[in-house]
Amino acid sequence: MHLEQKIPLKPFHTFGMNVMARYFVGPTTRDEILALLHYRSMIRMPLLILGGGSNILFTKDFDGLVVRICSTGIEVRDIDREFVEVTAQAGERWDGLVQFCVERGYAGLENLSLIPGTVGAAPIQNIGAYGVEVGERIESVHFVDIATGIQRRFTNAQCDFGYRDTIFKKSLKDGIIILEVTFRLRKTSAFSPSDTSFLKLDYGPIREELKEQGILRPGISDVRDAVCAVRRRKLPDPDSIGNAGSFFKNPILSEEQLSFLLEQFPAMPWHPEHAHKEYPETAIKEKAKVKIPAAWLIEQCGWKGYRNGDAGVYPGQPLVLVNYGTANGLQIIDIMDQIIQSVSSRFGIILEPEVIIL
Ligand code: EPU
Repeated sequence: MHLEQKIPLKPFHTFGMNVMARYFVGPTTRDEILALLHYRSMIRMPLLILGGGSNILFTKDFDGLVVRICSTGIEVRDIDREFVEVTAQAGERWDGLVQFCVERGYAGLENLSLIPGTVGAAPIQNIGAYGVEVGERIESVHFVDIATGIQRRFTNAQCDFGYRDTIFKKSLKDGIIILEVTFRLRKTSAFSPSDTSFLKLDYGPIREELKEQGILRPGISDVRDAVCAVRRRKLPDPDSIGNAGSFFKNPILSEEQLSFLLEQFPAMPWHPEHAHKEYPETAIKEKAKVKIPAAWLIEQCGWKGYRNGDAGVYPGQPLVLVNYGTANGLQIIDIMDQIIQSVSSRFGIILEPEVIIL
């Protein structure tokens, strides 16, 4: 494990900003991560734990130690006729894990195909797409407390999963490093070939994609392929255009707020929150809330396709802010502020960024 100095962070995050880290280290095993915590002198400086860097906007150099988690390994444990538990190390590439599971016929993660980032980052903001949130599939999260070095394993309920929200973004924020995550997945072999009841196909664009491809009885690899096709079409590839996926969260409103807004904006789309989610009973806290697509609010305010220099709003999905090349973090923040301002004055809704701003 090498401690490096003055390292450019451009290759290690997807927004592609030209920023530097004062120190940088990339532990490749769980033991190396734990060993790192023994160097107390090192961790007295600001610490940034980095996975795939796909949900971060850097506005300046990082004057501290960047720890890029690179630990790998996936283990499968047979539970019973219907379920397996898959445990992956934090540094595994997220989509590599999804592919691993789909290839072996373990169902549950296929809707989360092609999301950038690492396994260790997935539980932190409870990544979600096409009707599934990762929290619905997580059995436990194993982490180490940075200050004490004490390791703990949290059950699903202890993680307090909500929409792009968890305990790791609240009381445990910046205090822990996730070491490994265990998922509980269904074996497709436990179902008859014609039974697709375990698939999550509520989401319109995925159903339409499968229909267009003429697939009437999809399997999990068909769902993975459909999700990949839709994502490739709608979202910019960070390898060619810098971005961090959705920049804002979709606002969640009460039913009263919704009906008030619908009187003025009858065309406003909305979805019930938690309608089809599969969390253990104890993990669901709030009901009777609705989610409004922030993309629609932003588009209504005329921002779709906006560009100022190399900073802009992606024309295909206005929820995504982009760096066409040489934009810096402050130029993105400037657009963010203007969007928040105009959505607020038109709809009275305050958009919250979903990316971490440093
Ligand atoms: N919409 C518009 N104009 C557009 C695009 C979308 O008005 O140009 C409206 C439409 O009403 C559309 C709705 O937005 O039906 C939803 O759009 P989309 O299906 O693209 O999903 P999203 O709500 O914008 C969320 C996640 C994405 C995830 C998709 C698919 C958040 C913040 N974002 O986006 O996650 O891939 O659903 O499930 O919840 C991410 O977190 O980085 C991310 C990409």
